Amino acid sequence: MRGLFITFEGPEGSGKTTQAELVREKLEALGLRILRTREPGGTPTGELIRKILQHDAGGDELVPECELLLFEASRAQLVRNVIIPALQSGTSVLCDRFADSTTVYQGIARGFGIKLVQSINNFAIGEAVPDLTIMMDVAAGRGLERVSERSPHGKQSYDRIEREALSFHEQVRQGYLELAAAEPQRCVVVNTDRDRDVVAKDVWNVIESRLGEQIRKLAAALREQN
Ligand code: TMP
Repeated sequence: MRGLFITFEGPEGSGKTTQAELVREKLEALGLRILRTREPGGTPTGELIRKILQHDAGGDELVPECELLLFEASRAQLVRNVIIPALQSGTSVLCDRFADSTTVYQGIARGFGIKLVQSINNFAIGEAVPDLTIMMDVAAGRGLERVSERSPHGKQSYDRIEREALSFHEQVRQGYLELAAAEPQRCVVVNTDRDRDVVAKDVWNVIESRLGEQIRKLAAALREQN
């Protein structure tokens, strides 16, 4: 039986990584095999691309077209070498950011347009369409504050994209809300400007209500295999 594919999306500092880890613990406790990964990155090639994207590691400033295609290149590698093989073997995948990030950051905030970006997304992801996407929602300014609070050098630790103007990050946040409204069967918005455990409860309720039955079937199939 194919594994489940859940993606966590949201603006900077929206708590994706923390919540994905808590979901991993819960799903493993129910008997699922879980692989957690992230974008950009998740493969040796993808992690190299991540360094270029986050810190202009090539040495010259990235043009927006190159930025867009590097995110997609990292994704194509991750999907084919990691995500699809995992799903086919019955392992469920939790991914910190995926194609919606490109739709929102490059399609909306950078201005390439949703249509163009979604068509490149489709080429990169092939059959790896998420079963569920949790859109972690926080006001852009609040999320950025959280990022600087957790970094040793505050705002000076911001990477290339975090350093964009607040208006860029506000477009990102708004873009996610619009995407979620356009695809309610796949996307659910969770307000993450609350206590970590309260957010975790909401995230789990979403997963249970959307995928509870599939989780139980998958756990039973994995028990039979062992
Ligand atoms: P993060 O993994 O720490 O959130 O950093 C990834 C950064 O890259 C974040 O600023 C969002 C940005 N990003 C895009 O602009 N487009 C994309 O397609 C992805 C996956 C990330």
